[in-house]
Amino acid sequence: MRLAVIGCGYVGLVSGSCLAEAGHEVIATDNDGARIATLQAGKIPIYEPNLDKVLDRVVRERRLRFTADCTEAVREADVIFICVGTPPTESGEADLSAIDSVARMIAQESRTPKLVIEKSTVPAQTGEELKRALQVYAKNSGARFRVASNPEFLREGTAVDDFFHPDRVVIGVEEKETEQELRELYRPILEGRFRCPVHKPSCPAAAPEFVVTTIASAELIKHASNSFLGLKISYANVLADLCERLGGNVDEVTRAVGLDPRIGGQFLKAGLGFGGYCLPKDIQAFIKLADRAGIDFGLLKEAERINKQRVDRLIEKVKKALWVMKGKQIGILGIAFKPNTDDIRLAPAIEVIRRLLAEGANVRATDPEAMERARAVFPNLIYSADPLDVARGADALLVLTEWEQFRKLDWKRIHDEMARPLVLDARNMLHPAMMRELGFEYMSFGRPDTVAVMAGH
Ligand code: UGA
Repeated sequence: MRLAVIGCGYVGLVSGSCLAEAGHEVIATDNDGARIATLQAGKIPIYEPNLDKVLDRVVRERRLRFTADCTEAVREADVIFICVGTPPTESGEADLSAIDSVARMIAQESRTPKLVIEKSTVPAQTGEELKRALQVYAKNSGARFRVASNPEFLREGTAVDDFFHPDRVVIGVEEKETEQELRELYRPILEGRFRCPVHKPSCPAAAPEFVVTTIASAELIKHASNSFLGLKISYANVLADLCERLGGNVDEVTRAVGLDPRIGGQFLKAGLGFGGYCLPKDIQAFIKLADRAGIDFGLLKEAERINKQRVDRLIEKVKKALWVMKGKQIGILGIAFKPNTDDIRLAPAIEVIRRLLAEGANVRATDPEAMERARAVFPNLIYSADPLDVARGADALLVLTEWEQFRKLDWKRIHDEMARPLVLDARNMLHPAMMRELGFEYMSFGRPDTVAVMAGH
């Protein structure tokens, strides 16, 4: 089976490389010629752990190659994965123009039968439109199209691991033939027959479930999963606010609540809320999709509102602690929307920095991977790779991304370098008792430290 991946963004790049590693022949393309040139030169335009290892090997072994010529990729492949972006429009709906133009291109360039698979996150019923576009724009009688949906559940930062060890592989299909073809394609993953780039010597044992559904269900599963994750996080964040008022500890509460397997402990971490290019935009698109279908998804609207308030909550805490923000020096630890990625799209830290600058604060920032991208948004900030530089002389230090490196910092030294040893840990990453012992004024979300210190002001 020869595969084409159209769109070399994060999903396309990880999926294409991992499918090649699993034994397939893949040709990957993108309409961004500069991106393809970068990839052809052996450089990876995103930071994603383990991707370099996989990519290096599959390119060397000629199982993956890149081309700037999308038509070449289409003509050569039997199976085409559409992995182009579906960014939000002004109104919050998914912009499907890239899918539409790829569909027309596939229709016009194909000379042989193709299985066309949506991997991009798309609203339900996109499969129907895709099928129609392929039919009406088809130019060659040899071209026959089948369409399937194969949503991706990769998390940035652990995407390679997630690809090889998924909880489930979901495919939405209309024909038995397509189901069989996709089962074959995923067989190495389903049976654990691949060289794992992540685990040595052995991988986690559980085999993923292969879930076969209709196309519409598969499309819904993707939006429903991401939205539910957002819902869980917002729930934990309201619990954090409640704990602050009532003297509880949100970490204790969510841990115990999550021990019930019906609830589950993941995605109950309170803090600055969810960011990134998936959860916030998918929840918004799902609300819009429901609205258009005449269903009021008020539950998700509330989760989204709560999430947006997290930055307000943090800024309130900073203001209360610093009194006047104008002229104060504030150090930022972490800009990426979560650790182990350089992605700052819809990162809460970006909004926090914007607000601090608007208040007239002097901001210094560090992040292990995201500084270069942040520089494009805030060219005038002072950046340093060394967190100590960011702490030196600061009136407050804000932890906005829970990078492991920050946990391991020499906090005693940081304490001594700061003008005022005040830390606002928006990710509940550090231990309140340890920080207090070191002499910090320390605040986080929904933990007793917050109550104690705030009461002192
Ligand atoms: C998310 C989903 O988790 C993936 O399953 C999905 O494939 C992906 O979107 C996608 O649609 O492509 P990702 O955006 O990489 O993955 O990030 P998450 O790990 O879900 O984290 C999202 C945000 O939630 C981050 O800002 C993180 O800091 C925040 N978060 C996460 C919390 O605030 N609390 C938690 O308990 C967990």
